[in-house]
Amino acid sequence: MLEVRNLHVGYGQIEVIHGIDLDVNEGECVALIGANGAGKSSTLKAICGLVPAKQGTIKFNGKDITNQSGHSIVRAGITMCPEGRQVFPQMNVLQNLRMGAYTRKDADQALDVEEMMNMFPILRERASQAAGTLSGGEQEMLAIGRALMARPKLCIFDEPSLGLAPKIVAEVGETIARIKSMGMTILLVEQNSLMALRLADRAYLFEAGEIVLEGTGEELQSHPEVVKAYLGH
Ligand SMILES: Nc1ncnc2c1ncn2[C@@H]1O[C@H](COP(=O)(O)OP(=O)(O)OP(=O)(O)O)[C@@H](O)[C@H]1O
Ligand SMILES: [Mg+2]
Repeated sequence: MLEVRNLHVGYGQIEVIHGIDLDVNEGECVALIGANGAGKSSTLKAICGLVPAKQGTIKFNGKDITNQSGHSIVRAGITMCPEGRQVFPQMNVLQNLRMGAYTRKDADQALDVEEMMNMFPILRERASQAAGTLSGGEQEMLAIGRALMARPKLCIFDEPSLGLAPKIVAEVGETIARIKSMGMTILLVEQNSLMALRLADRAYLFEAGEIVLEGTGEELQSHPEVVKAYLGH
């Protein structure tokens, strides 16, 4: 579904991604793990058209989407649940959900709002509350709901559990597992490497802008280098 080849990304003169290849097949959950600053978010942003690719190609369902505008990539079927959630703080929960469907032309958005509120009952309870006043965990559920409102074919998560209490982290993990079981294709970046590798069918290990290891979630969970550096035992 997603095919990244020889991707280079940089900011100004400084290159931070040095020619990576990665694939996400339909129905898969693929995780990117690696240390702070390794280039995981930059990779996701290049896929979503939020930072330019300096070199290389990104194909989605066979179509070249390299360096297309963010909104056309959303229309093509890729949505991002960004790092730090980035809900619209002054808008209420319902308005935030509707924003997720902004690029859609079809009329059944009310149904999707219903579906999201069934999936996340807290969002129904807080429908008219300003999103900026929600707790971190509630904001994460809203950010996930907003991303799903676009009816994506590929849903990208950047650090969904960052800064949340352990109980909420587990809830986020269960939510992603549930979305996967609904048939969604997922690309996931997660500080909680163990959670990421448990959720993932396949995973890539990033180091200083390069992919140094790839394998199934299970393979990486027992790889000595990953165990030592990322799983803390
Ligand atoms: N807007 C920017 N301008 C300049 N440099 C940037 C910018 N965004 C990221 N970088 C640099 O690019 C490199 C990769 O950053 P990136 O955010 O992709 O890493 P990451 O793997 O997502 O890290 P983390 O786990 O901390 O989120 C870092 O050296 C970072 O300082
Ligand atoms: Mg990041």
